[in-house]
Amino acid sequence: MLNRPRRNRKSAAIRNSVQENWVTNHDLIFPMFLIEGKNKKSEIKSMPGINRLSSDLLLKEIESCLKLGLNSFCIFPAINDELKDKKASEGLNSKGLYPSTIKLIKKNFPEAVIMTDVAMDPYSSDGHDGLVKNGKIVNDETLEILAKMALVQAEAGADIIGPSDMMDGRVGFIRESLDDAGFTDVSIMSYTAKYASAFYGPFRDALDSAPKFGDKKTYQMNPANSREALLEAELDFSEGADYLMVKPALSYLDVIKLLKDNFTLPIAAYNVSGEYAMVKAAALKGWIDEKRVRDEILLSIKRAGADVILTYFAKEFAVGKK
Ligand code: PBG
Repeated sequence: MLNRPRRNRKSAAIRNSVQENWVTNHDLIFPMFLIEGKNKKSEIKSMPGINRLSSDLLLKEIESCLKLGLNSFCIFPAINDELKDKKASEGLNSKGLYPSTIKLIKKNFPEAVIMTDVAMDPYSSDGHDGLVKNGKIVNDETLEILAKMALVQAEAGADIIGPSDMMDGRVGFIRESLDDAGFTDVSIMSYTAKYASAFYGPFRDALDSAPKFGDKKTYQMNPANSREALLEAELDFSEGADYLMVKPALSYLDVIKLLKDNFTLPIAAYNVSGEYAMVKAAALKGWIDEKRVRDEILLSIKRAGADVILTYFAKEFAVGKK
């Protein structure tokens, strides 16, 4: 036998020397949930270990993450029901909870990377990512709202804008609006291949943002398709995206690989709420070794081709690295 692959596995040092992929804190973005109030922390039942935090506590949490070497955050706002309307007006309020908190974070921690969310659902009384007219989600009128939302967030200091709405043409529309207003340095991480997935359930609990009627299948992608992800990626690339994201991650590792092989932009993957919840639930039952499963999951997403991973495990991972 001339070839014995086991020789390269004979000790930890040798295994490490031939290891092809590593996950580091630099790869991770920590998604966090923001609520109104002071000194408020509310648990998300379906996401053990993750809380909705008022801005003061969110700041403290960011500070503790920075100390662990975790530098990137994606903030999602939970908006009170009485502020929600059909046009997602609160999303355009530059004095609202979300932009004022982003300002506060950037003032206190200029070195932190803050990614923001552009979509109507957290602010919409219809619970849809786009504007609803006669029971339909209308694309082009939504673009105007999304672009204004992106501007409010850029003015507040966002480093990366994350359009998560899946309207056609939104990356180019937002890019032009940002550039016209002088925000040429603000990046766009496009939710390029965002699938209509059941894995978003716990997130919708967290924000109380589930659609009030129907589903999101007229804008989010069909889980059966991967060639369509290439079409979305071509559009986002040509419209000026800085990163292409695949979401969810675990059931879509092939799509991550597909985009990685066909595009030169950095690829991001969103290890979503339902993927987190499954691991936590099994771990709470004592059925799996949580830390090993977590690390294996993150590594698999990296191996598939993701350069950046949005994950609710980010802080726990960083704690483990200390
Ligand atoms: C919607 C949005 C969703 C997530 C982030 N932004 C899901 C949805 O379509 O409701 C999901 C994130 C997660 O599940 O962790 N704009």
